[in-house]
Amino acid sequence: MTELIEALNPPVADRGTGSVRTGTPVSRVDGRAKVTGQAKYAAELPAPDLAYGVVVSSPAAKGRIVAIDTQAALAVPGVVEVLTHLNRPKIRSFDIAYKDMTAPAGSPFRPLYDDRVMYSGQPLALVVAETFEAARYAASLVRFEIDTEPHGTKLSANLERAYKPKPLKAGYEPPPDEKGNTDAAYAQAPVKIDAEFYSGVEHHNPMELFASTVIRDPSGHLTIYDKTQSSQNSRWYVSHVFGLSKNKVTVRNPYVGGAFGSGLRPQYQLTLAVMAALHLKRSVRVVLTRQQMFSFGHRPETVQRVKLAADNDGTLRAIWHQAIAETSPIEDYVEVVVNWSGMLYQCDNIKLDYKLVKLDHYTPIDMRAPGAAHGVHALEVAMDELAWELKMDPLALRLKNYAERSPVEDKPYSSKELRACYELAAKKFGWDQRPLNPRSMREGTELIGWGMATGVWDAMQMFARASAVLHADGKLVVSSAATDIGTGTYTVMAMIAAEALGLPLEDVTFQLGDSTLPVAPIEGGSSHVTTVGSAVAGVCEKLQKTLFKHAKALSHSPFANTRFKDVEFTGGALRLKRDPQVALPLAAIMNDSGVVRLEEKYLMLPNMLKQRKFRRLVHSAVFVEVRVDEQTGVVRVTRVTSAVAAGRIMNLKTATSQVVGGIVWGISQALHEETYADHRLGRFMNHNYAEYHVPVNADIHAVDVIFAEEDDRIVSRLGAKGVGEIGIVGVAAAVSNAIWHATGKRLRSTPMTPDKVL
Ligand code: MOS
Repeated sequence: MTELIEALNPPVADRGTGSVRTGTPVSRVDGRAKVTGQAKYAAELPAPDLAYGVVVSSPAAKGRIVAIDTQAALAVPGVVEVLTHLNRPKIRSFDIAYKDMTAPAGSPFRPLYDDRVMYSGQPLALVVAETFEAARYAASLVRFEIDTEPHGTKLSANLERAYKPKPLKAGYEPPPDEKGNTDAAYAQAPVKIDAEFYSGVEHHNPMELFASTVIRDPSGHLTIYDKTQSSQNSRWYVSHVFGLSKNKVTVRNPYVGGAFGSGLRPQYQLTLAVMAALHLKRSVRVVLTRQQMFSFGHRPETVQRVKLAADNDGTLRAIWHQAIAETSPIEDYVEVVVNWSGMLYQCDNIKLDYKLVKLDHYTPIDMRAPGAAHGVHALEVAMDELAWELKMDPLALRLKNYAERSPVEDKPYSSKELRACYELAAKKFGWDQRPLNPRSMREGTELIGWGMATGVWDAMQMFARASAVLHADGKLVVSSAATDIGTGTYTVMAMIAAEALGLPLEDVTFQLGDSTLPVAPIEGGSSHVTTVGSAVAGVCEKLQKTLFKHAKALSHSPFANTRFKDVEFTGGALRLKRDPQVALPLAAIMNDSGVVRLEEKYLMLPNMLKQRKFRRLVHSAVFVEVRVDEQTGVVRVTRVTSAVAAGRIMNLKTATSQVVGGIVWGISQALHEETYADHRLGRFMNHNYAEYHVPVNADIHAVDVIFAEEDDRIVSRLGAKGVGEIGIVGVAAAVSNAIWHATGKRLRSTPMTPDKVL
């Protein structure tokens, strides 16, 4: 039985919202709770007798702890305990216990496990006190003596150690085998380019700090409010690491203040908070500082090389794309960087290569459109370079080589309205007015440039369960252990259910964010709508059928001789499609049948046999205008037009917001974000909001999002493909290409800061 869990306090639409159709713009049902502070985040949940933990991080990048001095810390009034690897409670030792659902190949990090220091910023101790202030002060007094060893954190100095990773990660596809003979085709072609690209480390900076509040009840049961993209992933992890059975641990994440990859894996504050709660037998909260959020994963530093060759008419003859990225000593973090270069353009000779180098940092982690954000960047800047070599319009070059089937594997696309994206966005942007030559447009001290790029991302579907309970008063509660990181899950799932049963939106509650709810995947890979949405549609269809059966069985039923395909659910009633006046309100059906509640459950399994026959992607075309100040090198992105083909759009407003957010992050990747390491210390240095730059309002100007019409029933029964990540892909390339068009200077490393532009 899946009843409403009071503590989750799921949001519902305002009274009077009424019926809404999927595809229309609908405001987030959680919006009011979030902006008024009613939504409670992991660090905010109250608990009686709560202790506060503060993490002490390693100052050294590599070595062994030889001595720990906790005396001064323990002497601080209010300090309860200092946990280190010497006195922590028992945790499991074997690798598999630490493998969360998204772990790559290797041996996951085990917090406070032993005396080994593997990276700067590694958590070495947890100070627990009666107040946060006492814990924070005491944490500054803990001293470690570390026997240091030489470390290596510089990718460029270690490229010769690159190796091919093991492809063991859910959802990861290694590069395909070579198609044709790329080297020979490259050698023979009349027009070619060969370019190297660099993308620096980027760190996650969601507004909400990473936090876990572990509430221990007298029986020993742990209810954990965790900042995560999957309550069930965190529950699974805690159970395995500490050997606690499933019914001893509940994880909740009803509200998440941004994540986009940082919450895919359980982070160490969760492990440490549980450790302290078990050790002290009381409730414990651990919140990481902004600085400490630079110590649990990042978008990996990556070097790439792209060679393209074409005939004089622009026909592509060779695509060669190589990437070398960093990973940690313990795990092979893999992402799809180069494969996109074999999915976008028709070409007979394609060679793709991806390697890793182990550096003494923590394992990198997914960040919005992992792999594509910088992999497609390199390809799309290279395409722009090739277009200039050919003296061809960059859009015309893309259209010339438009792929009707996925080139390397020679598979059809499940759907591909990229051509419509190019046309819609180019028209809206006014691309046909673009002069071919760089340095052709200026206004005052600013050079103006126009650039474009293609974007691509996967259209994935995983499996999920959903349950639905319809009450006699017409209220519907639909449940799945999904997550809403601010992307609109609550809203879209409620819309799907409300439309299916013809109910006003405010009568539908979608509850998510609790590990005891029906199984749902992590909120990642832009797959929540295709996956959880399809489960919601499935469970609602079961409810429809049950209601219909009850309606037919009523005496004098107007539906006695009707088939299911001839009815619809609108305006709170079951109706005949061809004569909507013939209707029975849902409440009346239940009442007259003597049922007070109807419950259905549904398991949504993707049709993998069918899906496998197709390459399933979302696409975009991004057009950008930049203005570059000739004296200062400051770049302003003054206009962005992005057209996206992502299947059926379920909520125009939240989908648009996703793409706008992706574009903002793309501008950030292009111009602002980079974490710099001091390689002598092996440490990321600009780990704060003052020195780690992200765009502010003044950096973002006109952003225009268009959706190309697309409906893909191979990816999901809803026709949707997902919009979470596509917005960022290609944006930085379009900015780079626009900077070249403005200035004549080709920039191949991100971020494109004024020193590089000048
Ligand atoms: Mo996304 S990087 O799968 O949260």
